[in-house]
Amino acid sequence: MPIIGTRSLRSLRVTGGILMFFLLLTLLGQFYVKNANPVLSVTSLSKRNSSSALALKADSLGSDVKGVHQNMRGNSEGNQLKGIYSKARTDRSGSAILDMMYAHSYAFHNNMTYLGACWTNPEDNRYQRVETHQHLLIGLGLAEELKFACPANFTDILDSSIYTHNGSQRWSSKWLAYIRSRVNYPERIASASHQTAVHIRRGDVDPCTRGGASIKFRYLTNAYYQAVIDTFVPTNSNVTIYSQLKSYESLGDFQKYNVFVNTSMADTWREMMTADTIILSRSSFSFVPAILNKHGTVLYAPFWIPKANGWKTVPENITKQSDFDSSRLRAAAGCGRSP
Ligand SMILES: *[C@@H]1O[C@H](CO)[C@@H](O)[C@H](O)[C@H]1NC(C)=O
Ligand SMILES: *[C@@H]1O[C@H](CO)[C@@H](O)[C@H](O)[C@H]1NC(C)=O
Ligand SMILES: *[C@@H]1O[C@H](CO)[C@@H](O)[C@H](O)[C@H]1NC(C)=O
Ligand SMILES: *[C@@H]1O[C@H](CO)[C@@H](O)[C@H](O)[C@H]1NC(C)=O
Ligand SMILES: *[C@@H]1O[C@H](CO)[C@@H](O)[C@H](O)[C@H]1NC(C)=O
Ligand SMILES: *[C@@H]1O[C@H](CO)[C@@H](O)[C@H](O)[C@H]1NC(C)=O
Ligand SMILES: *[C@@H]1O[C@H](CO)[C@@H](O)[C@H](O)[C@H]1NC(C)=O
Repeated sequence: MPIIGTRSLRSLRVTGGILMFFLLLTLLGQFYVKNANPVLSVTSLSKRNSSSALALKADSLGSDVKGVHQNMRGNSEGNQLKGIYSKARTDRSGSAILDMMYAHSYAFHNNMTYLGACWTNPEDNRYQRVETHQHLLIGLGLAEELKFACPANFTDILDSSIYTHNGSQRWSSKWLAYIRSRVNYPERIASASHQTAVHIRRGDVDPCTRGGASIKFRYLTNAYYQAVIDTFVPTNSNVTIYSQLKSYESLGDFQKYNVFVNTSMADTWREMMTADTIILSRSSFSFVPAILNKHGTVLYAPFWIPKANGWKTVPENITKQSDFDSSRLRAAAGCGRSP
């Protein structure tokens, strides 16, 4: 349904003369006909299909974290925007920001604006994570596209099952081009050699760790990463591994590469965003920078988050070997059966 902004009506000035008066009457007439349905009321989106344009009262679109909950009164201009809000995820930056990207992509493909992720419970002690996410988003240049904001009424938050539904549409080339056009890419040294960034998700991910909704195990072995490097990375590449202090298998196996275990997320994402080759974990952490990387070869191990257009899937013989080796590590640790 077309939305007529009140701003354009307001800007009409009747400067006198009967013609202008009739012109105004005509315009107003169209306005009321087009708005015979209650466009000006807030439409509840939750648990509902919303493929067509829906009208929501925009909030002030402020991106200041502390302002989010004060901004719920609505925009004083009274503008109507076509847009959606998502519910902010309470987990870490990789999955929280990836979820905002899903919602943004959904809005983009349905000709709507992504108005923001709403943190519905500020009493939650994880609320401070919003600040971390925002600093990362500011660093990426995406703080305006992916912001934190709430609708006037929490019932207007779109249920995540709606915007996470269509995996193939989610990372369309069109959307990728759009979101990348908004990113503030770091300067790359022209003379720099081929760079490879490898994300080895460890920490709380060990051979026993299953992924959220899926029964799939997440662990990828050291041998997996070595095989992918040997198969896909040019021999003269500068290989850097980004991992965590605590690792189930020793990262000492990678001594011939640069190994960073406690690098800030902002630095890690920046390197991954510009690398020529990125090797992913089964983790949303490395997805965000991989999605934003414009030119690199991205090597993906299948799991429950679908890959983006253009990414290479690591051949089955390598992933199957890793899954088999993980099941042996699991058996040795006595921590659960293979699926
Ligand atoms: C949502 O849309 C799908 C596909 O168009 C349809 O099959 C389904 O019944 C709709 N659900 C609701 C709740 O309208
Ligand atoms: C979005 O807008 C474009 C161009 O106006 C149109 O071609 C397309 O069908 C619209 N998509 C949806 C889902 O409404
Ligand atoms: C929020 O929306 C729901 C459903 O439309 C409604 O029942 C409720 O009264 C609204 N709450 C406020 C504070 O407007
Ligand atoms: C998912 O997206 C693809 C590609 O844009 C489209 O062809 C397909 O109809 C969509 N499916 C659903 C269920 O929306
Ligand atoms: C190799 O990568 C590391 C980590 O990003 C970087 O500090 C170093 O300057 C790079 N070396 C070359 C020769 O590109
Ligand atoms: C890891 O990095 C954090 C933040 O930079 C720092 O506070 C902490 O001391 C580091 N830990 C180790 C073991 O280096
Ligand atoms: C996987 O299979 C290819 C041939 O299809 C072979 O060249 C490669 O060495 C194999 N890799 C591993 C790690 O088994």
